[in-house]
Amino acid sequence: MCGIVGYIGTEDVKETILKGLERLEYRGYDSAGIALFDGDQVRVFKDEGRIAHLRDIIDYDVKSTLGMGHTRWATHGKPNKINSHPHQSIEKRFTIVHNGIIENEEELKERYLKNIKLESETDTEVVAQILSKFTTEGEEVTLAIRHLMSEIEGSYALAIIDKYNKEKMYAAKNKSPLLIGKGDGFNMIGSDAMAMVSHTNEFYELDDGEYVEITKDKVEIFNIYGVKVNRDTYKAELDSEDIEKGTYPHYMLKEIDEQPFVIRRIIAEYQDENGELKLDQDIINKIKNSDRIYIIACGTSYHAGLVGKYYFESITGKPAEVHVSSEFVYNTPILSEKPLFIFISQSGETADSRAVLVKVKKLGYPTITLTNVKGSTLYRETDNQLLLYAGPEIAVASTKAYTAQIAVLSIIAVKASNKDIDLIKELSIAASVMEALCDSKDLYKDLAKEYLSETRNCFYIGRHLDYYVCMEAALKLKEISYIQTEGFAAGELKHGTIALIEEGTPVIAVITQEIINLNTRSNIKEVSARGANVITISRKSISAKSDQIVLGDVNEFLTPLAAAVPIQLLAYYAALDRGCDIDKPRNLAKSVTVE
Ligand code: G6P
Repeated sequence: MCGIVGYIGTEDVKETILKGLERLEYRGYDSAGIALFDGDQVRVFKDEGRIAHLRDIIDYDVKSTLGMGHTRWATHGKPNKINSHPHQSIEKRFTIVHNGIIENEEELKERYLKNIKLESETDTEVVAQILSKFTTEGEEVTLAIRHLMSEIEGSYALAIIDKYNKEKMYAAKNKSPLLIGKGDGFNMIGSDAMAMVSHTNEFYELDDGEYVEITKDKVEIFNIYGVKVNRDTYKAELDSEDIEKGTYPHYMLKEIDEQPFVIRRIIAEYQDENGELKLDQDIINKIKNSDRIYIIACGTSYHAGLVGKYYFESITGKPAEVHVSSEFVYNTPILSEKPLFIFISQSGETADSRAVLVKVKKLGYPTITLTNVKGSTLYRETDNQLLLYAGPEIAVASTKAYTAQIAVLSIIAVKASNKDIDLIKELSIAASVMEALCDSKDLYKDLAKEYLSETRNCFYIGRHLDYYVCMEAALKLKEISYIQTEGFAAGELKHGTIALIEEGTPVIAVITQEIINLNTRSNIKEVSARGANVITISRKSISAKSDQIVLGDVNEFLTPLAAAVPIQLLAYYAALDRGCDIDKPRNLAKSVTVE
């Protein structure tokens, strides 16, 4: 989703901003733009398309030590040049970039901008024009910003340049992510640390309803009443090398390969000095004291949540439900007496999940976040936090965060149970099995070519835990290869969907659970009899000779970790074969910061 990067200092800003924007590409975008303040006027270059294209349209003669850039993921109006950010007020005094959605845009236009013809269809331009109106009517700029903030309903991370002040940049935040990077002789703003990490690893977090005045030497944070807020910086444990692709052709492939290492790092991070698994006692108590766990998540994290539900019920013995955040928030089920909410979010910024958090916090319920991003919104706003230690995940399609979520969920479930499971050993075995699977890339490449390179659609089928794996497998394949794919409970296929099976339809069956082995194999026969081309992924000890992909034996409950590797690699090679933009699939965003 939209990305922002800004810089004020003594060096020319162009490369810093362009590189920062490239670091934000992973969030997903369809247009890009940059504003360069040459000391006299603010020059804007923007267009639909990639940052590579933005690089082609910039005037490199413009010299600037204050500037900002933006990647836009269209919400208000088509992706085109006019709707791209930055936007300027009519007299070009204010230049603005924005991430978020102004919900009362129409009302604001009606109230303040009746006589102004807006150039674009965006809510951002409305903000620029209103700011200009307030200052034209005599308000000093920071008063105008606060006035504006009090009028806006919705979410925003705003960066503002005022042509009358070449020494300063302004920013404001509500619900959308924004960090301030502290430098020596310069300061930066960015949607996340990745945009700034080549320059600094020291950051200020902003709370909702705060705005900032930033010069090259100073960062001053204020609340909406204009009262100065004292805030310490924090250091991000992020290495700029972590966010390079290295020799890999795609981040996704690199991140798939990193998974065994991530599992081992999780084992190390969740281990005490005696080599025992450790977990914050407060979290264990929260689980023990609750009568039902509500797991809240979106996308891939929701699929990890389904596996987590199984862990809580089968290992911990605690009832659990998993909910898609965007549904839960407006169609909240009747809650148990002592609910505990566990939010799963790679980014920690997903607006739908945060909307649920805001709601359940108001009701006073305990909350825990599992996230990959320390200091993210969900991390900060829940009672307890658990980190995934997956390292930055850049490809839009989530891979290593998914397996990290499952591994951490297994740790929570085991630690909150009375069961004597040697989870360190079981997770270590899973990591080794995953490593071996990562090493057989030619197999997935060949299967993808044979079964998936031409197909219009595809089905994943499985039962029990394998059904959850199939849901994630289908999401992976559809989101990067654009093959219409569904993940089905294998037994449910015959109640309707089998009508779609015809000669040559690829069906991928996942069989890792002994209890459903024979049932799923019967379902394979049913689809084969109707012409399907079947690929079977099975666990070694229950495999059949004809199964094309065999996972080494891991403990049954950890098979989703092992099965993740082939389903991710099949998706990867199918997308590669079909010439898709693997790391940045069309229309998708990594960090979905609007509801
Ligand atoms: C987006 C991403 C998905 C991700 C989902 C939830 O749709 O493209 O990969 O699973 O958001 O994101 P979260 O950061 O909350 O896990």
